[in-house]
Amino acid sequence: MSRVDLSTLLKQQKDGFSLQQQFYQDPDIYQRELERIFMKSWLYAGHVSQLPNAGDYFLYELDTESVIIIREDDETINALLNVCRHRGSRVCLESSGNKNLLVCPYHGWTFERNGNLRGASQTKEDFDKSLYPLKTVSIKIFHGMIFINFDQKPVAFEPIEEDLDDCLRPYRLDKAKVAHRRSYPIQANWKLAVENYCECYHCVPSHPEYAVAHGRSFHRNDVQELTQAVMSKAAEVGLSDRCVSMEWLDSGAVGNDRGYDRYPLLKGFVTGSKDGKPLAPLLGEIKAYDGGTTDMHIGPLTFYLAYCDHIVVYHFKPLTIDTADCEITWLVNEDADEGVDYNLDDLIWLWDVTTIADKRIIEDNQKGVNSRHYEPGPFTTMEDFEQGFVDWYREAIK
Ligand code: FES
Ligand SMILES: [Fe+2]
Repeated sequence: MSRVDLSTLLKQQKDGFSLQQQFYQDPDIYQRELERIFMKSWLYAGHVSQLPNAGDYFLYELDTESVIIIREDDETINALLNVCRHRGSRVCLESSGNKNLLVCPYHGWTFERNGNLRGASQTKEDFDKSLYPLKTVSIKIFHGMIFINFDQKPVAFEPIEEDLDDCLRPYRLDKAKVAHRRSYPIQANWKLAVENYCECYHCVPSHPEYAVAHGRSFHRNDVQELTQAVMSKAAEVGLSDRCVSMEWLDSGAVGNDRGYDRYPLLKGFVTGSKDGKPLAPLLGEIKAYDGGTTDMHIGPLTFYLAYCDHIVVYHFKPLTIDTADCEITWLVNEDADEGVDYNLDDLIWLWDVTTIADKRIIEDNQKGVNSRHYEPGPFTTMEDFEQGFVDWYREAIK
């Protein structure tokens, strides 16, 4: 699709309506999304607790790119492109592990954990090893969360720190650990998955387990009193009441878009559990349950649900134009012992059952959008955040 076609399409896009079919189907638009959005965004790659020892690594893969996220030593985690500097082979083939040195399986070039080339056999006389380190991508560790950015000159990370630092500090995510991770492949365009996450209009009909416990299932005007009660208790239990609103803050912000919003749980619930009771020890410096939970997002693909005793990280990833992955990570305090301080089945129950339902409704949505008869429909008052995403997207893709 040429620029003219895209600009015509963008002009035809009606405000307050869902996106036109081409945005979910056109390969050129998908390619443009990769370049304009994903190659320029700060992307959540994982949590520091996934790399406890020097040499531990995991791969973060997106489109044709593969990055080795590797712990060099106590202080340093590096993000190295998984592309050999000899003739381009993948260097690491397993998705995670521990390596003292990174040895390319093709001809054996050997790289250190900081990417420097240590050894290459039979090279010519004038060969200078220092010219061939593994390339790097930008990396930022923020409250124990590892973010990378493929852009050579990445957009500043500071606005994310400024807006979210106070809100995140009490959770002490730098002192958290991964209790569980699970991937949910979705046969749909990534935007349908993100849009679905961004609205809770579907929560009452589709998620009875969630709806019974979370104020987000209702229009905010209908839970105003509960929201105020939670916000007034936030400081008391050690949470910040300084929050940015849950919006795509600046429709021009591509790469460091972010948001945060605390909302109430319903009567009888202190966390996202089946019976309303605690699931794990209180996180970090939080002193008590305040009856609330927090929605947060960093970048276009990563969303957080922060309860007082655990955090659920949602990372969506486009795989192809019409397939995506949703990886969920459950975080608890690093010193919480499974089977003693928390029961894993109970911890993951709500978001596992909810995501299985989401996968189904997102895939049904894609099927309908593929119809010759699909046309964009109007957003309701329960879909303002999704509409914010669509507005942000329309700017980002220009
Ligand atoms: S491509 Fe890696 S050593 Fe040849
Ligand atoms: Fe859902």
